[in-house]
Amino acid sequence: MAVLRILFTRLRTEEKLLKDAAERLGIPCELQLVSDTVFGGEPFCSQDDVVLARCVSHNQNEAVAQMLETQGIRVVNSSHVMGVCGNKLTTSCVLEQAGVPQPKYLVAFTQEGALDAVERLGYPAVCKPVSGSWGRLLAKLNDRESAEAVFEHKAMLGAIHNTFYIQEFVDKGSFDVRAFVVDGEPLCAIARTSQHWITNTARGGSASNMPLDDEVSELLRSVHRAIGGEFLAVDLFKSNGRWLVNEVNDGGEFRNSIAPTGKDIPGAVVEAAWNKRR
Ligand SMILES: Nc1ncnc2c1ncn2[C@@H]1O[C@H](COP(=O)(O)OP(=O)(O)O)[C@@H](O)[C@H]1O
Ligand SMILES: [Mg+2]
Repeated sequence: MAVLRILFTRLRTEEKLLKDAAERLGIPCELQLVSDTVFGGEPFCSQDDVVLARCVSHNQNEAVAQMLETQGIRVVNSSHVMGVCGNKLTTSCVLEQAGVPQPKYLVAFTQEGALDAVERLGYPAVCKPVSGSWGRLLAKLNDRESAEAVFEHKAMLGAIHNTFYIQEFVDKGSFDVRAFVVDGEPLCAIARTSQHWITNTARGGSASNMPLDDEVSELLRSVHRAIGGEFLAVDLFKSNGRWLVNEVNDGGEFRNSIAPTGKDIPGAVVEAAWNKRR
């Protein structure tokens, strides 16, 4: 009999909620600790199982998905989707090719190139690591001096930080939106309000329900058409009356979004994963 296997490295609230939801919905489900598992030899599960990959480290999650997919095991999200979402530059390229609106961005590979890029975009601008989450290491560049300082520091941080991904700073007011797309359909969204320009709930942004209208729903569907995936968490900005897609996360955290939206996000995710079984 097929089993839904939740692969994890740290049992966060999300993984507990996913396990509870599976039990509630009668889906046979096991938690599997990644550190107890060797990948590549005899598979730890059957070909009929579906693996919901929930490692905290994005790199680890993608590696585990690749190993399991190589053995013919279905993984949610797929390693391909993880690859697109796990790198902000890759996400931007995929969205741009699909014509999905996003903040203006430029990429450079040296301090001088980065300075040129930010001056083309104009101040303020935002420089972000291509992989990262929870608003870490984001820098708002207000003027040339702050840009020079940030780029000099990044240049010392090693190769990964020498891909300078720079976005225009979007005047989004006091909030942005985190929307959840399950099985290609928008499920619910929260507005994240903060006095800080970084609105992540992990950074103190407060969550309130954001009803999905037709315009946002259609935009979210276009994101899914471009990227695929059973479970996407999409960050949106509204600027000058227009919606922009800031980033797309796979395997996102959702604990702060259940109460405000009243939606059973973990239930929807385990069902979507379970539907992928052979
Ligand atoms: N270009 C931008 N303009 C305005 N605010 C931004 C911009 N980029 C990021 N932010 C703010 O910072 C938050 C975190 O940025 P994000 O790109 O989503 O990175 P992370 O992967 O760390 O969540 C966003 O939710 C938003 O509040
Ligand atoms: Mg984000």
